[in-house]
Amino acid sequence: MTAPLTAEPTLFPPDFVWGVATAAFQIEGAASEGGKGESIWDEFCRRPGAIADGSNGLVACDHVHRLQGDLDLIQSLGVDAYRFSVSWPRVRPGGSGAWSEAGLDFYERLVDGLLARGVAPYLTLNHWDLPLELQASGGWAHRDTVHRFVEYAQGMARRLGDRVRAITTHNEPWVMAMLGHETGIFAPGIKSRAVASQVSHHLLLSHGLALQALRAGGCKADLGIVLNLSPIHPATNSAADRAQARLEDGRLIRWYMDPLFKGSYPDDVLAFLGADAPRVEAGDMQTIHTSMDFLGLNYYSRTVASAGTPWDVHSSGRAVTEMGWEVYPEGLTELLLRLQRDYAVPPLFVTENGGAFKDQIVHGADGSPQVHDIDRRDYIARHIDAVADAMRQGVRMGGYMVWSLMDNFEWASGYAKRFGIVHVDYASQTRTVKDSAHWYRDFVARQKAVRVAHNPQQQAMAPDWAKQAEVTR
Ligand code: FCB
Repeated sequence: MTAPLTAEPTLFPPDFVWGVATAAFQIEGAASEGGKGESIWDEFCRRPGAIADGSNGLVACDHVHRLQGDLDLIQSLGVDAYRFSVSWPRVRPGGSGAWSEAGLDFYERLVDGLLARGVAPYLTLNHWDLPLELQASGGWAHRDTVHRFVEYAQGMARRLGDRVRAITTHNEPWVMAMLGHETGIFAPGIKSRAVASQVSHHLLLSHGLALQALRAGGCKADLGIVLNLSPIHPATNSAADRAQARLEDGRLIRWYMDPLFKGSYPDDVLAFLGADAPRVEAGDMQTIHTSMDFLGLNYYSRTVASAGTPWDVHSSGRAVTEMGWEVYPEGLTELLLRLQRDYAVPPLFVTENGGAFKDQIVHGADGSPQVHDIDRRDYIARHIDAVADAMRQGVRMGGYMVWSLMDNFEWASGYAKRFGIVHVDYASQTRTVKDSAHWYRDFVARQKAVRVAHNPQQQAMAPDWAKQAEVTR
């Protein structure tokens, strides 16, 4: 199969951001260096059976020790932006109290290294690795953690706010609340619906408070949040499946989008939660409803809801990734259109998109290692096409970022699932650029060439997003 044709060349505006993404715990390693504290994921990895291959993040991709090489790798892809996260316990080991100069210095070198290479830094504050000490006092279920997070956000903005293009407060609050506190398959492994709903409220509240604090402090970076969203389709047209789909839509999409963009939780989900609904204090909803400069969404697949036997992912006849996720690019178009139709959203970014596939290292005629990951290349190309489709229908998009720059620690799946467009041999830490990365590099280069060729015309046609964002505020 060949890569499908991707978007007509002038569709993406000149300031469209093409990027690659990672997260601290998944790549950094150097788990106790420079006085780094533990996170809830360090503790979770020690629990027997929690991680599929019994692995942990102690070494991961050894990124901390290989920073310059990895930055060169990012530069070699020719992308506009690199989305990374800061490990809170690396910069403030206990989550409160003393800061670590060594930790702050690492991110300073990371950001300066990106800028020196012409790559815009997109910083995420919370990609799940809460300092373990804060969990001891209740973690995200405890309202004080909200204030610790705001301090952390302010500290990072003071240090790096003048140099990063964007700051994301949280990555995927649904995952932290639901998988971390309701089903318990992710850290901190709690299984309580009441706790999970309180956690979701505190995550949203801390997002709003952090935005307000950063703006008040004069932070110039674009500010936003990243949600994991997917359209929810009923497995059949039965009333029960449709009701189930509506509920799941409420819990995944509207539970986050409504408070962020309308200032209230959806009534049907509140009714479903009953006594498990979060405690909300006066003014909280208004705070959560603070305006954003961008909204990031991570898209991997659609969700199919069933009131009875769980839907069989193979029943649609579509390709399924190594994660067991159905390849469903048109779900991304559907989602983007729906977000812009139902909410006054700022420019939308796909902040993660990619696939885990079985990779094989082969050797070329000259002996060089290669990975012919056609499935991943097609996955990415088809999803970029889906973004293009949404744009043709009027969706204001700011950028697209591939998950992930390189293979890494895939949470409860350990190292077995590979999402990288760069292969990592964990024994030797050798990086091998896969075919998908070559394809993405060439695609981005073509986009940039078009940008230059069409610049005057494109500039005139490009919507003035900054102004439009003002209007939606
Ligand atoms: C997302 C996470 C990211 C990565 C991908 C596959 O939910 O944000 O860290 O694990 O899934």
